[in-house]
Amino acid sequence: MDLTRLLQNPPRVQRDGHGQFVEMGLGEEVLDFISQRVDSSSHTLETGCGVSTVLFALAGARHICITPAEHEIQRIKDYCRAENIPVDEIAFYADSSERVLPELACEPLDLVLIDGRHGFPAPFIDFYYTADKLKIDGLLVIDDTWLWTGEILKQILLSESEWRLEADFAPRTAVFRKLAEGTQTKEWTQQAFVVNNSAFKLNDKSPSSLVTAARYLKRGEFSVLGRKIARRLRRAVRPA
Ligand SMILES: C[S@@+](CC[C@H](N)C(=O)[O-])C[C@H]1O[C@@H](n2cnc3c(N)ncnc32)[C@H](O)[C@@H]1O
Repeated sequence: MDLTRLLQNPPRVQRDGHGQFVEMGLGEEVLDFISQRVDSSSHTLETGCGVSTVLFALAGARHICITPAEHEIQRIKDYCRAENIPVDEIAFYADSSERVLPELACEPLDLVLIDGRHGFPAPFIDFYYTADKLKIDGLLVIDDTWLWTGEILKQILLSESEWRLEADFAPRTAVFRKLAEGTQTKEWTQQAFVVNNSAFKLNDKSPSSLVTAARYLKRGEFSVLGRKIARRLRRAVRPA
């Protein structure tokens, strides 16, 4: 089997609102992107399960698949058996990623796909616990960036020097290359996205929040912004 045939006859593992099995797979161009970068020497991990899991199996990757839905795992195994696709290299975890990932010990990963639960804070938890398992130069695929949670994760990584946007399948999927360690353990004063998206609150004319923000920012990487706020404050309290 190859990607074309997989797309023509995808496994249907998720249930829709009527209990029918449906396919909720990654976009075709994302599957193609992954298939060109993963082979039998790759260590990979995904949160969620489905067409992507079969793709990793087809590539022969040493793959970790995490989903709380046991029936999805069974249906993927049945599908692969029917199509003669080996699944020996796939370690299935039948539990939610927020429970599995904190305890998971694994080889350094070449690619991580975040496509499990999309409600807050699941994608952030998935990111937090996989970021340091990913090798430097490894790829992080985030689906679905058209949802607010995925979009925020994408925006944060766009503003962090430890990550570089490798491919943008907007609006739905983004792929980042990891360049260095550390994003997920920084304080907010070191994260441009958090600083910039908090700045509007600094206009709320509340002197105490301005003082606190200026104090923090003056110490951190955004010391220029901190000094600006402090100047504004001094002007504001100066008698006319
Ligand atoms: C959009 S689907 C994944 C589609 C898959 N990547 C594909 O290409 O077909 C979302 C998946 O996340 C799983 N899921 C839901 N909650 C989860 C959680 N807490 N941890 C991990 N996976 C979860 C669902 O069971 C489902 O398999």
